[in-house]
Amino acid sequence: MYENPRLLLDSSNPPEPGHITWRSPSNIALIKYWGKYGVQMPRNPSISLTLAASCTDTMLEYEFLEAADDGEIDLSFYFHGEENEAFKTKTLAFLESLLPVFPFLKQLKLTIQTGNSFPHSAGIASSASGMSALALCLCSLEDALFGTLKDPADYDRKASYIARLGSGSACRSIFSYAAVWGETPAVPGSSNEFAVPFGDELHEIFKNFHDDILIVSQEEKAVSSRDGHALMDGNPYAEARYAQARQRFDVLLEALRSGDLATFGKIVEDEAMTLHALMMCSNPSYTLLRPNTLSIIEKVRDYRTTTGHPVYFTLDAGPNVHLLYPGDIIHEVRAFIEDELKEYCEDGYIQQDWVGEGPEEI
Ligand code: PMV
Repeated sequence: MYENPRLLLDSSNPPEPGHITWRSPSNIALIKYWGKYGVQMPRNPSISLTLAASCTDTMLEYEFLEAADDGEIDLSFYFHGEENEAFKTKTLAFLESLLPVFPFLKQLKLTIQTGNSFPHSAGIASSASGMSALALCLCSLEDALFGTLKDPADYDRKASYIARLGSGSACRSIFSYAAVWGETPAVPGSSNEFAVPFGDELHEIFKNFHDDILIVSQEEKAVSSRDGHALMDGNPYAEARYAQARQRFDVLLEALRSGDLATFGKIVEDEAMTLHALMMCSNPSYTLLRPNTLSIIEKVRDYRTTTGHPVYFTLDAGPNVHLLYPGDIIHEVRAFIEDELKEYCEDGYIQQDWVGEGPEEI
């Protein structure tokens, strides 16, 4: 879609060295993307809230290479200030795959300095913030060198497209408040190739939503998202699941527009349980939930019944619980977490987050 062999630098007029830095957040899916085809194409539409505190800062430094080697991209990679071979190898493979889109990458010496505001692989989607930050740096680099992405909507669409190629869910992190990824008649302009903004349609109550992430375990996941998606191909419930996701998507969209918290909570919790049920009935079957995940879920349900407060849970592909609630009950909910939920968290660790305005260039 974005292949462009003309994006090559003129060696008789080389650019000055420079650098670009983006801070990009993670996002939490309400309707989950689980199952894909082709190159990172989703089997069903998904929608997420964009977070604020869980983010990745990425700086991309560039310098024109007088004698560009036609083979490999010249990359140095630092994670939290230290060279990281594993991340470098992954990033190089990603950048190589993007050469038809950004052919000028071969003409530059590149240095990436990156770091997260949260522990790596804590089950907070570091791939979403990391890949969206990198995609934004690459699009800004293209624009700095060629002036080709001046229109903000074009810019966001391309950044979302590139982020998707890095990690599917990352394409939704480009937009403030909320984003939809996956073609659906319910959202005009939606696409499997990139996410589209949904913030303008979101009821005000959701713009002031919190997501306190209760870290049940920081251990690396036993089954990666990539393998999890692949297992959906042989899952006997897959087709029913994709149909269900579409149905829930339509109902949730209406609740997000109207501010209907009860419908929102019901669907979001059902989605979390479905995601993990799909894992449990994959072949081979696996479980990412931990006993403490279930204890927290029970407590949240009890608390809601007793107090009537609109506090809901969701889960990513991991054991940690995302607690979603409107900002006006923050004091009550924080007290509840402190008194009843913290004991189930590893080292009492809770990552406090909230719905945010999306990435920023820094
Ligand atoms: O973006 P991936 O390939 O890591 O998949 C993420 C899948 C979920 O986080 C479980 C759901 C979602 O839509 O974000």
